[in-house]
Amino acid sequence: MIVERLNSIVSEVEVRSPELKTRAEYDAFKSTISGPKGQLTEVMKFMGTVPKEDKPAMGKFINEAKQQIQAIMEATQVRIEDSELLAQLGPSIDPSLPSPDLNRGSIHPIAQVRDVIVDLFHRIGFAVAEGTELETEYYCFDALNIPADHPARDMQDSYFMPGSCEISNVSKFGEERYLLRTHTSSVQIRTLLKEKPPIRIIAPGRCFRRDTPDATHSANFHQIEGLYVDKQVSLTDLKSTLDYFVKGIFGAKAKTRLRPSFFPFTEPSFEMDFYSPDLGKLSNQWIEIMGCGMVDPEVFKSVDLDPEVYSGFAFGMGIERIAMILQGVDDIRYYYQNDIRFLRQFSDSVS
Ligand code: PHE
Repeated sequence: MIVERLNSIVSEVEVRSPELKTRAEYDAFKSTISGPKGQLTEVMKFMGTVPKEDKPAMGKFINEAKQQIQAIMEATQVRIEDSELLAQLGPSIDPSLPSPDLNRGSIHPIAQVRDVIVDLFHRIGFAVAEGTELETEYYCFDALNIPADHPARDMQDSYFMPGSCEISNVSKFGEERYLLRTHTSSVQIRTLLKEKPPIRIIAPGRCFRRDTPDATHSANFHQIEGLYVDKQVSLTDLKSTLDYFVKGIFGAKAKTRLRPSFFPFTEPSFEMDFYSPDLGKLSNQWIEIMGCGMVDPEVFKSVDLDPEVYSGFAFGMGIERIAMILQGVDDIRYYYQNDIRFLRQFSDSVS
């Protein structure tokens, strides 16, 4: 009787176990087998009725049956717990797949134009030089032949730091004040003090002036400075370098024109205009895009180079101005508003 009961319990466990899906179903079924009122518990109560001589064999049989039941129940529990965990984790993912819903960033339109300009000069041997956005009056003005009472200082009014301020990574010449640089020409001086000619550098960077923002002015803007210093650098070198640059950026049919101008740190000084037949609304008219000239002897003196031995040219242009022409943007303020609808028009990955 006990043997049949045990066999039928084992086969019931074998049949029912695979059908159990949840932890609750498992617990409920388990208590019908091994709980206080379970079938196995009930059968054990009949052990007392087994004749003494049959007890060892019966004990062995019962143990085997119990072990069998336990093994099935344990495997069932593991199966149920695993599937519950998988359900909690959700569907499996492939982390190597690209995200379907993230917008990719892109290079800012000003940085795109900066990179094109830098690349053009890079190809003819100009290396990128960097200065700091915070400068001192000496490197921004005095060393560039703009003395304290020069009217150019008013035109380039900027943000000055308090007198007591000390900034460890911007070296001072004397006791002058710090300011946010008004042009990248300060990089000319920093480079000339650090390196020996021949020097061919291009220095892109952010500049600051006290300006009321409007469609063409911003208190924060970007320039690219160029400087070439060697023995026997001539105005022809300047002109041919600028021709190369303008054709590279505005197309092979573009032309350049130098108009006399004045900068304290170049002599002679020019405004460079360009003209292109392929520029949409701006075609066939002279457009001013940079200041330039031959390095003034006073600049060479302030960096201890002999102007009788060395000569050079320098130029400086606003990146925004060139970007606006290239990208057909009519208000400089769009570049700083971070409006995704504007930026997206200049991104490679339009989504
Ligand atoms: N620094 C001048 C400006 O900001 C531009 C310039 C640079 C002119 C180099 C001549 C030579 O207006």
